[in-house]
Amino acid sequence: MMDIDRIYGSRLFTKEKFLFYKRLPSTQDRAKELIKNSVGEAGYVIVADEQYRGRGRLRRVWSSRKGESLTFSFITEKIPLLSMRTALSVAETLEEECGLRAEIEWPNDIVVNSRKICGILIETERNLAIIGVGMNVNETVLPLESATSVRIETGIPASREAILSLFLSIFESNLTRENIMDCVREYLSFIDRYVEIQTENGVIRGEFINLGEDGEIIIRTESGSIASFLPGEAKRVHKLTAPLLAGTDR
Ligand code: BTN
Repeated sequence: MMDIDRIYGSRLFTKEKFLFYKRLPSTQDRAKELIKNSVGEAGYVIVADEQYRGRGRLRRVWSSRKGESLTFSFITEKIPLLSMRTALSVAETLEEECGLRAEIEWPNDIVVNSRKICGILIETERNLAIIGVGMNVNETVLPLESATSVRIETGIPASREAILSLFLSIFESNLTRENIMDCVREYLSFIDRYVEIQTENGVIRGEFINLGEDGEIIIRTESGSIASFLPGEAKRVHKLTAPLLAGTDR
């Protein structure tokens, strides 16, 4: 079980605003309720030792294991580049606390050795943003081949309390960091690779050439034109194993 006394607060996320639950359907839904009831405000952190009806992006289910996964949601002001700031903070936390080299799969999946270790869900309620983070920490077995955990990668158990504490303090400093996109680019997966992007209007293929200053993915499409999509405009990005452009070899 998580030891709430071992989680330290920060200037924004003070300990009085920590709400810890042994068992909850979804920390994200709890955070929304708190805002609706005018209790939740920026700085609240809702943590569940066990979450049994977790939600992922694109209406997916997010399953996590009692006592092993780190599942929490926190409330912040709506500011630009929230998904980039969150993904960067997770990658930096995994590096600093666990010694893992994580990559950001745009827009905000975090992978280690090409397997997903953490998912991020950002929603809004009134004038606030709710950021949900689900991280595989101490799982030794995972239901999906495409997933991994901190423990699987390092071979040793990790402290969910230490990871959460460090994440909150890094996130707080990343809220006001200016060169956010330069930092994100350093952790970015798939850059210069061929990708397939699922958008509302269909699938687009091309070369991932950069990230723009608004967090948008910029690609050179199969026809050679440049296209860009903001985090909210693309559902998913996949890496393609082979280039699709005729006459291009890499
Ligand atoms: C994704 O990769 O699809 C995002 C997953 C987000 C899961 C977290 S776990 C804590 C919070 N509560 C939820 O119900 N979902 C988010």
